[in-house]
Amino acid sequence: MRYRPFAKTGLYVSEICLGTMTFGGKGFWQAVGDLQLPAVEALVGASLDAGVNFIDTADVYSEGESERLLGQALKSLNRPREQLVIATKVRGRTGPGVNQVGLSRGHIHASIDASLKRLNLDYVDLYQVHGVDKETPLEETVRALDDLVRVGKVRYVGYSNFPAWQTMKALAIADANKQARFVSAQMYYSIAGRDIEREVVPLALDQNLAILPWSPLAGGLLSGKFDANKQGPAGARRSGFDFPPVDHGRLPGVLDALRQVSQETGLSVARIALAWVLTRPFVTSVIIGAKNPDQLADNLAASDVTLTAAQIAHLDAASALPSEYPGWMVDRQNHEPRTANRS
Ligand SMILES: NC(=O)c1ccc[n+]([C@@H]2O[C@H](COP(=O)([O-])OP(=O)(O)OC[C@H]3O[C@@H](n4cnc5c(N)ncnc54)[C@H](OP(=O)(O)O)[C@@H]3O)[C@@H](O)[C@H]2O)c1
Repeated sequence: MRYRPFAKTGLYVSEICLGTMTFGGKGFWQAVGDLQLPAVEALVGASLDAGVNFIDTADVYSEGESERLLGQALKSLNRPREQLVIATKVRGRTGPGVNQVGLSRGHIHASIDASLKRLNLDYVDLYQVHGVDKETPLEETVRALDDLVRVGKVRYVGYSNFPAWQTMKALAIADANKQARFVSAQMYYSIAGRDIEREVVPLALDQNLAILPWSPLAGGLLSGKFDANKQGPAGARRSGFDFPPVDHGRLPGVLDALRQVSQETGLSVARIALAWVLTRPFVTSVIIGAKNPDQLADNLAASDVTLTAAQIAHLDAASALPSEYPGWMVDRQNHEPRTANRS
């Protein structure tokens, strides 16, 4: 396992992060996975043994069961706390009340306490807002997150699923008030969905944010068992839950390119798709999902893959985003060094 610096913090994380959305199987989340304690212990234990130090969960996954099972597994595996980097999230609905959702001061304070209790931890390393809350002022959210850092319940704060402009606004608020600023962006990114390259990646590079791709196999669509019409085996998550959305025009070419590289290397399609994400220089740690030990082993081994320059170029070309305004105008106006325009 390789480790990468976590943005401009003093922390290092494994380049593969274990996602825990398949733990618990409660309510809506049954469709994603319903692993219970023995299976959870096996996956978490195998990940730690492979050198993973970074684990991602959320208060809403399986209505809190994902955090609870992870907490139980960590307790029984009994690894030193300081060797673990545990991330969780807040924003989703956690109860029927009007205030049991969103990013208000009250919900953030109540939610971190509930998460720490379920996880059986004194602090989390990374606390992420799970998405935009259009009704709470960003000033209130940033201040509430800063409170949590100051009292030691949270080491770092990050975000997920924000547009670039709102991220920049939150960073500016934090900077102006000397409050904890976001250090990471957990965003959907896969070889079939490179949208963040337009606005989020340039922002992250400029503002020193760690990018943590979620659903790197597009929910299993890029694991090799689905065709270009999104037909796959019964029981696979993507067969019943068509998420995240993908561009249908580019998907056949992406799947073809993955299969070609898979045949060339003798490695699974899933491993190639993950290895491609790891070639992106802006990615800090890719958040994998697995339903069983075989999938986990396949995905962890992506860290050992070295794609050739030709293979990377082939995969890049098959998955490239179409040019879009204002990007094409920015490129057009900046394609020559300034010294070339001396008149
Ligand atoms: N911040 C957010 O809004 C957000 C959203 C989504 C996810 N996440 C995070 O990202 C993590 C990963 O997301 P994800 O589970 O959607 O990741 P993913 O890698 O896109 O999909 C994982 C699923 O693909 C299938 N799969 C995985 N490896 C495979 C392999 N080697 N061979 C064949 N099939 C394989 C399994 O489902 P089947 O066996 O059913 O096909 C598995 O559950 C989550 O656990 C969570 O921590 C965050």
